[in-house]
Amino acid sequence: MARLLVSILLASLGSGAVLSSRTDDQYGIEPGDFVSVKGLRFTDSKGGTHYVTGLNYWACMNLAADDSVGGNYSRLITELDQMASKGVNHLRIMASSEGAPTTQPFRMNPPLLQQPGKYNEKVFAGLDRCLDEMSKRGMRATMTLGDEWQWSGGFGQFVSWTQNNTQIPYPPSWNLSAPPQRETPGTGWGNYTTIGIDAAPWDDFQNFANLMYSTPQAERWYKDHIKTVINRENTINGRIYKEDATIMTWQLANEPQAQAPLGYEGPYGIYLVPNSEDLLFPWINRISAYIRGLAPKQLINVGLEGKQGQYYFQQAHNFTTVDYATTHCWVQNWGIYDMYNSSGANLQQAQDFAKAFIHNSSVWAAEIGKPVLLEEFGMARDNWQNQYKEYPYLSSASTAHKDAYFETIIGAAMDEFKSSSGAYVGTCPWAYGGIWRPETEHANEFGMVWAGDPPHESPGWYDLYDTDEAMNIVSRQQKNISAWLANHTSI
Ligand SMILES: *[C@@H]1O[C@H](CO)[C@@H](O)[C@H](O)[C@H]1NC(C)=O
Ligand SMILES: *[C@@H]1O[C@H](CO)[C@@H](O)[C@H](O)[C@H]1NC(C)=O
Ligand SMILES: *[C@@H]1O[C@H](CO)[C@@H](O)[C@H](O)[C@H]1NC(C)=O
Ligand SMILES: *[C@@H]1O[C@H](CO)[C@@H](O)[C@H](O)[C@H]1NC(C)=O
Ligand SMILES: *[C@@H]1O[C@H](CO)[C@@H](O)[C@H](O)[C@H]1NC(C)=O
Ligand SMILES: *[C@@H]1O[C@H](CO)[C@@H](O)[C@H](O)[C@H]1NC(C)=O
Ligand SMILES: *[C@@H]1O[C@H](CO)[C@@H](O)[C@H](O)[C@H]1NC(C)=O
Ligand SMILES: *[C@@H]1O[C@H](CO)[C@@H](O)[C@H](O)[C@H]1NC(C)=O
Ligand SMILES: *[C@@H]1O[C@H](CO)[C@@H](O)[C@H](O)[C@H]1NC(C)=O
Repeated sequence: MARLLVSILLASLGSGAVLSSRTDDQYGIEPGDFVSVKGLRFTDSKGGTHYVTGLNYWACMNLAADDSVGGNYSRLITELDQMASKGVNHLRIMASSEGAPTTQPFRMNPPLLQQPGKYNEKVFAGLDRCLDEMSKRGMRATMTLGDEWQWSGGFGQFVSWTQNNTQIPYPPSWNLSAPPQRETPGTGWGNYTTIGIDAAPWDDFQNFANLMYSTPQAERWYKDHIKTVINRENTINGRIYKEDATIMTWQLANEPQAQAPLGYEGPYGIYLVPNSEDLLFPWINRISAYIRGLAPKQLINVGLEGKQGQYYFQQAHNFTTVDYATTHCWVQNWGIYDMYNSSGANLQQAQDFAKAFIHNSSVWAAEIGKPVLLEEFGMARDNWQNQYKEYPYLSSASTAHKDAYFETIIGAAMDEFKSSSGAYVGTCPWAYGGIWRPETEHANEFGMVWAGDPPHESPGWYDLYDTDEAMNIVSRQQKNISAWLANHTSI
């Protein structure tokens, strides 16, 4: 019992209200309590096994920023308390976002990095506040340092900067002000882009973003950003980021893609044909080694989905400077689940896939001797109920499929954790929308609604709301693992 990790004990104390009433000099995470990897598991500095009961909360730095840059402190505190009360001990958050002189309608705004070397200090202070408030609640962070996709600027923005601000070939992205519109301006609904910025094929966009791996100037600017964040002193609590155990992990980027795959294979045509020459691998090697040199006390991961299959999964994670593997499981996006199909067979197909995907990736990770975190997964609400309404993602739809799916996929990860040969060490569903709802949304002066879905996708698609049963499933996971760990101190 005494060897139990601090974060699980804290979370077990009960309501977030208890935690948030602690005085400001009391932190759930001491600066030196770094998490490390031991075999296929995480341990804290006292040797307790650390299980990640996480959530994605990518917009934290913007919500935590000053009102003048679109922040909302009361919402931030409400939502952090809600998550803490459900036993959440980890948030995956953005520690990067890039802006541009080119038109940039589909991304986090205002961005942290306005142009190479020029930061929005108020947004950076939001990241400080986010980490400070997380630390008080015993929550650790995955800090995502880049993005393959357009919703935070990401690789495409760095590449555009090196090409005299060339227009980024955006793929279809959600335009909140496209038809259909509601009466009050700024309240949506919107649709995917068809006019305005050209909707390029996804492959064109991906090829453009992947120039990141072979453009030295883009890489220099990206590394400058990494160095700046890692060495930052938190303006709220004075901790240097690289010395703060609240930051568990530096993540190279959100979903970096293979640069030159040789085709598709696998059960649903989602896995890639191996290409050992893929520039993704040396890029991971270079960037992870760079981070290790700057922040030797914290963990490093890549941010990979695992949809590339066994070869890519193992090659990308098999560097000594990559501490653990990740998976993202997206059954609708990968064509395995249809949100308008109410049949049990449709759900079953998604559950069967998720179980196989979790088991397979657990084996792949164990083979290279590393833990694996399920750090993204989601399912739409029962949206066949919304199919003929004004918006397909209304929050009024029930969540029968989603709840059953969450039980299955979280349960599968827990089973792998409890099995001595399994490599799973936790889960992070996508993504916390908290008190936000599409029905009451109102874009702020920067065009943002801060749903759980990022700005290039339809708000409400994958949101987890404070009142959703999914949050109770997350909470039961934490209690179950906590009880199980109490009887298995020696794993
Ligand atoms: C900030 O969040 C609160 C809820 O905590 C909400 O009532 C309010 O409308 C939000 N303010 C803005 C400007 O969005
Ligand atoms: C860069 O773009 C600007 C504006 O589009 C243009 O005037 C300028 O000639 C371009 N410079 C180069 C080197 O291409
Ligand atoms: C949204 O866009 C899709 C694809 O471009 C189109 O089929 C659909 O009719 C549009 N929805 C509305 C309500 O305009
Ligand atoms: C979004 O839709 C509005 C209304 O149709 C249009 O004026 C605007 O150009 C669109 N924006 C983009 C970036 O496509
Ligand atoms: C991982 O790296 C180790 C050490 O370099 C090597 O022996 C092993 O074959 C690699 N595994 C895979 C799956 O590539
Ligand atoms: C719903 O999904 C099941 C399982 O994939 C499939 O057999 C069935 O045809 C689908 N129904 C419709 C209306 O698409
Ligand atoms: C899991 O691995 C088995 C055995 O290699 C394979 O048949 C199956 O297609 C895989 N499923 C997934 C979802 O990866
Ligand atoms: C914990 O979850 C397992 C399934 O992984 C289940 O068999 C067990 O009953 C649960 N225990 C508690 C205390 O909820
Ligand atoms: C832990 O062990 C005790 C004593 O053996 C037992 O009563 C209890 O049910 C166990 N709890 C779990 C969650 O395994």
